[in-house]
Amino acid sequence: MQPLPQRTSPFLVGEPLPMSKASAFHSHADLETVLVSEIAIKRRLKKLGAEISALYGKDEITAIAIINGAILFAADLLREITNPVRLDCIRISSYRNETRSVGRPQILHSFTLDLTNRHVLLIDDILDTGKTLVMVVQSIKKLGPASVRTCVLLEKQGRREVDFEADFVGFKIPDKFAVGYGLDFAERYRNLPCIGVLKSHLQNPPEWA
Ligand code: IMP
Ligand code: MG
Repeated sequence: MQPLPQRTSPFLVGEPLPMSKASAFHSHADLETVLVSEIAIKRRLKKLGAEISALYGKDEITAIAIINGAILFAADLLREITNPVRLDCIRISSYRNETRSVGRPQILHSFTLDLTNRHVLLIDDILDTGKTLVMVVQSIKKLGPASVRTCVLLEKQGRREVDFEADFVGFKIPDKFAVGYGLDFAERYRNLPCIGVLKSHLQNPPEWA
């Protein structure tokens, strides 16, 4: 039997990350620029969570996260919300070609929770053309919810192709293809703790096909 690889000891709670490790971790070498730092995300999510909790009062929220992109955002945001929450995840077909959208989104894996008379909070990573959220909100409304609101981590400016505004927005970003904190390029970079723009030579590497 192979010996187990050497295991590192867990960080003690409250132990600060050594500076060399912290900076290597924050600015991923493949990024040209960091648009939103890890600390800025954490701060903003606390505020968003407080706003959302205040808006819903004592009501229960049925949160619907669009996976995979919203998975990190939803996980962290929901921990800043003090209301009772039910969580569902849906998957939308990718209608994008490389970094631009090309077709119409469709629900691949639909709601499993009953949404009738529920306060639904739809959570996505980024509002770009708006086609995804318009389509999903229409589908939710057909199920007779008490209310539907939307929350996105990022809103890309100057890109809307349909008339749509999210109720809660974390950050407005310029029209650049963003990766990190759930957002991917060819399924990579979702685990970066910050959000940034990839170096241009990495936007189409043939070895990723
Ligand atoms: P929309 O339907 O055009 O608004 O696109 C929404 C979806 O496109 C998001 O949920 C993302 O999955 C994807 N998307 C749009 N812009 C970006 C980006 O800059 N980086 C990564 N994914 C993006
Ligand atoms: Mg996505």
